[in-house]
Formats: sequence, C-alpha cells, structure tokens
Amino acid sequence: MKLLLLGSGGREHALAWKIVQSPKIEELYIAPGNSGTANVGKNVDIKATDFEAIKTFVLEKGIEMIVVGPEDPLVKGIYDFFAHDITTRDIAIIGPSMQGAQLEGSKEFAKEFMQRHNIPTAHHKSVTAETLQEGIAFLESLEAPYVLKADGLCAGKGVLILPTLEDAKFELNAMLTGMFGEASATVVIEEFLNGIECSVFVLTDGEHYKILPVAKDYKRIGEGDTGLNTGGMGSITPVPFADEEFMEKVRTRIIEPTINGLREEEIVYKGFIFLGLIKVGDNPMVIEYNVRMGDPETESVMLRVQSDLVEILEGMNAGTLDTKELEIDPRTAACVMMVSGGYPEKYQKGFPITGFNLAEHTDSILFHAGTTVKEGRVVTDGGRVIAVCSYGENKEEALAKSYKVAEMISFDNKYFRRDIGFDL
Ligand code: AMP
Ligand code: GLY
Repeated sequence: MKLLLLGSGGREHALAWKIVQSPKIEELYIAPGNSGTANVGKNVDIKATDFEAIKTFVLEKGIEMIVVGPEDPLVKGIYDFFAHDITTRDIAIIGPSMQGAQLEGSKEFAKEFMQRHNIPTAHHKSVTAETLQEGIAFLESLEAPYVLKADGLCAGKGVLILPTLEDAKFELNAMLTGMFGEASATVVIEEFLNGIECSVFVLTDGEHYKILPVAKDYKRIGEGDTGLNTGGMGSITPVPFADEEFMEKVRTRIIEPTINGLREEEIVYKGFIFLGLIKVGDNPMVIEYNVRMGDPETESVMLRVQSDLVEILEGMNAGTLDTKELEIDPRTAACVMMVSGGYPEKYQKGFPITGFNLAEHTDSILFHAGTTVKEGRVVTDGGRVIAVCSYGENKEEALAKSYKVAEMISFDNKYFRRDIGFDL
C-alpha cells in the first residue's frame, strides 16, 4: 500500500515508525514530516492543510490511504474534501468527517453532544458577549476554581483555570472581547472537577471500536506539574488506576454512548477518538474529546502496539474493525521529551544535536518532534525537540532507560522533566 501521513511532530514520527513496520507498506510519505520521519519514509513538502496540493500529490503517486495526524486538517474538512470529489473518493481517509471533528473543533458542540447522550462530564454553560450576564450568574453559582474554555481551536491554549470569582469574571470578559480572536467569541464555563487524568484512545470504523493502551501525559513545564502548560513533557503507559473496573465504566458510560451517538446523529467517523478523562472518586468523566491521537502519548502508546497497525487502519476504513486483532505488549513504555531551554516561552533554535551514535547502542527509540537538518547536521527546530521512549518491565525501568538516553543526547540549553510518572 502507498500511504500518506499528514503532520510533522513527534506523534507523526511515532505513527510513521509503526506504520512502516507493516509488510503491507510499499511506500510511506509524510507531509510535511520532520528530520525523524525522513528516516522511515519520504517527506513531502506540502502543508497538512493544503488540500489541493495534497490531492494533486495523492493522485500523482497513487496513494491509497491518508492518515491524518493533527486536528487542523480534520476540523477544516479534509475528510469531506476527499469524499465529495469523484477523483479521490475511493482513497481511504483515517480521520472523522468535518462534522465529527467538531467534537474537538467546538467545545460547545462537544458539551451538547455529551449532554444529548448522557455522557458524564462537568456541568457547563456556553456564553457569548450577548449572554455575558448569564455567564456571570453561572460563575456565581459555582465554587472556586473556575474553568473557562474558548469554544474553538487555540493550539492547546484556550483553557483558563482561575482561582477567584473576580479573576474568572475578568477573564470571561477578556475572552469574549477577543482574547483568542474568533475562537473565544463563545466561551464554555465549566464546573471544576477534582481528580487524576488519563488519555484513552479509541479506534473506530463508525460501528465497532478497539481501545489502545491507556496513557498519561505531563503537560506542565515544571516538575511536580508546576509552571506553564506545554505541548507535553512526557508520557507513560499503562496507567495503573485505569484498571479493569474503571475501564468497564469507560466502555459502557463513555465509549459506547459516544459511538452510538455519532451513528444515531449520522456523523461519519472512521478514525481516532481521544478521550481526555478524569477519575472523580471511582468514576470516569470526560474533560475533552480530541479527534486525533495525543502528543506525546502516541510516542509511548505506539511502542505497545504489537499488531500490524496498517491492517487495523484498513479495518477502520472498511467497517471491519471487529475482525482485526489488536495485540498489546504488556510492558511499560515511557517517553521523556527533551525541550529547548526557555520553552514554552521564548527559546532559541538551530543548535546542533549530538549523541545519536551513543543512543543507537541502547534499546530506546527516539522520535523527533522539532528538529531539522542544516548543512548536513540535525539541529533543534522547535520547543519540543526529541522524545526518548523506552520499554521496561515496570515504570522505574522504562523511565531509567529514557533518562539515561536523554543524558546522552546533547544540545545547547537542553531541558527535560525528571519526574515523569511521579503521580502513578
Ligand atoms: P483541555 O484543553 O480541555 O484538555 O483542558 C486543559 C486542561 O485543563 C485539562 O487537561 C485539565 O487538566 C484542565 N481542565 C479542563 N477542564 C477541567 C475541568 N472541568 N475541571 C478540572 N480541570 C479541567
Ligand atoms: N497530550 C494532549 C494532547 O495531545 O492534546
């Protein structure tokens, strides 16, 4: 099969690494990719949202399947663009329709969907500038802290958690008057939920589903989950508290109502559903839906998928996911993200990265997130630079291996968290 993967981060390098292991793959292209994906497939210099250029490329190369890594092309309607064009409608697109992508593209849509299908989530109210007073009244009915979410996509920055009612009122007003542009013209105010979070990844063909290994990510820059939010500083799988009893509740209360709800509402969905869950008491509740895999969860989750991922993707497209095996490695996988000093605020790029030769002699796997090649050398090219991923018989062993390799890889101002998995 000739497959095109869209995206350019650590998630895409991990997906590419796994996809290319399939004997079914004849040719793997990644658009636009990064210097890591260039080692497992062929990078193509096309943006993941340039649908016309993607169409020209896939027709020219005879691509049979497109796997969409990030949310942007999905929310912009890449599924519909290909499905409604007679020349491309037979190409398999792994990812939901534009309507399905609203589960991530609009927090208000997601909350209303959950309400309609009785899926456990925080109480909420959606407000606009016209209904600001109702929003303030709703805030006054809640207890601190207060959660405000921009309705639209904000590259992970659209959620504010405020300690006092005064702050919440102030920020609500700021959001409604353009803090995140059009994305915060509608704001979802939510009750704050107290608990521990995990990421559950569901594969669906619109009717059947399979669950990938549950993972936990670490979003804050500082140890002990302190400081600013980032794109993710590390991840680990499995998550011990997501035990059989918990997962049974996740299946019956969340996953099945979600898939049945999509079907009842005739929303086409053949792709990944990422459930951001929080365990409140003994019960799972949904913090958010995403319509793609998580980053950096994918980097550890892919290590544990033993089955041929391409077989499973084919099942997702054909509606035969129930006939496919999903075998999971029982070991732990841990990923430590090496980032540029200063990230997620100002940081410098372009520093040469050394130590790949040392890492080669270990059994850890490096996924590139923000790297590029300059004058024949791999250099830093983003805030998050490289994810170091390792297997272990337990989390201590997996983490120790990743930390050892994170010490071998060098670049100026390198930083990584040394406490991944501390709360498990
Ligand atoms: P989101 O972008 O929806 O994932 O929100 C970002 C982060 O904010 C989540 O990962 C949670 O840690 C936190 N968060 C979002 N909503 C709530 C809530 N209702 N209660 C507590 N924490 C929340
Ligand atoms: N790791 C969280 C996300 O991908 O949104």
